[in-house]
Amino acid sequence: MKVFITRSLPGNIEKLLRKNGHTVVTFKKEYPISKTELIKNARNADALISLLTDKIDSEIIDNLKSCKIIANYATGYNNIDINYAKQKNIIVTNTPDILTNATAEIALTLALACSRRVIEGHEFVKKKKFRGWAPKLLLGIEMTGKTIGIIGAGRIGYAVAKRFKGFDTNIIYYNRSKKNKFETEFGAKKVSLKKLMTDSDIISIQIPLTKESYHLIDKNHLSVLKPNAILINIARGEVVDEKYLIQLLKKGKIHSAGFDVYENEPNIDPELLKLPNVVLLPHIGSATVEARTKMAQLCAENVLRVLKGKSAKTPV
Ligand code: DGY
Repeated sequence: MKVFITRSLPGNIEKLLRKNGHTVVTFKKEYPISKTELIKNARNADALISLLTDKIDSEIIDNLKSCKIIANYATGYNNIDINYAKQKNIIVTNTPDILTNATAEIALTLALACSRRVIEGHEFVKKKKFRGWAPKLLLGIEMTGKTIGIIGAGRIGYAVAKRFKGFDTNIIYYNRSKKNKFETEFGAKKVSLKKLMTDSDIISIQIPLTKESYHLIDKNHLSVLKPNAILINIARGEVVDEKYLIQLLKKGKIHSAGFDVYENEPNIDPELLKLPNVVLLPHIGSATVEARTKMAQLCAENVLRVLKGKSAKTPV
């Protein structure tokens, strides 16, 4: 059977798929595949391995004439019209768990880079401005003892909270349901989103993008942030009203923000690029050799199982 992969992935899954008798076609370019190319290549594929940059809408799904599975190379699957895929009897899978540690580590990386002004320091040294130790040079904010607001207390939220807890912080969280693990392990309290935004020193966002979470962090929520607050987004850009956040950062109304994701990815708001109080990463939350290799492996496993008529390991 034919498996179409929309980009070359780390590891060696092509070999694995071929060993199992399948024909593998991979879009090898270093940029996201266009809709036309995707349709052309996936039309007669039995399985499609897609990326979060591939918008698998109803038009694409209508063109998948023999596809049994769309294995998304990500935990998030907001790029796929899953209801439509279901109507067409196509199984959709994602890659949960295996990127949890990598993603949690990037939240901490962003938080520390913001609080300790790491990028400013790096630029300062590179521009040969360092004239020696100085009492007031690049003073940051200590993480120890601060209140950390976790938005989305799922697997990644838990891993993020656990790491922050290592800095002797107080954890509060916002989640639809109460999470006993958060309460017993971290002594964390479930609070309203408004309270979380009001009380936290550092906020980390890791909720999936859905119709309900689009611009969940809006003007009303952003405007109550503390003057020294640090906002970290490792989820999806669309969860935050980015334009309003930029205004806050521009006016120095909060300390800083760490972005791994953006509202119009990969287009970055030019205003954001000019700000000194931001840390900007190119959506690399899961970008470790370990996570990305396991993600590819899991996509292949799901494909192999479904093409054999078995149930998928991680259906969404
Ligand atoms: C995901 O898996 O959804 C992440 O955003 C990938 O980095």
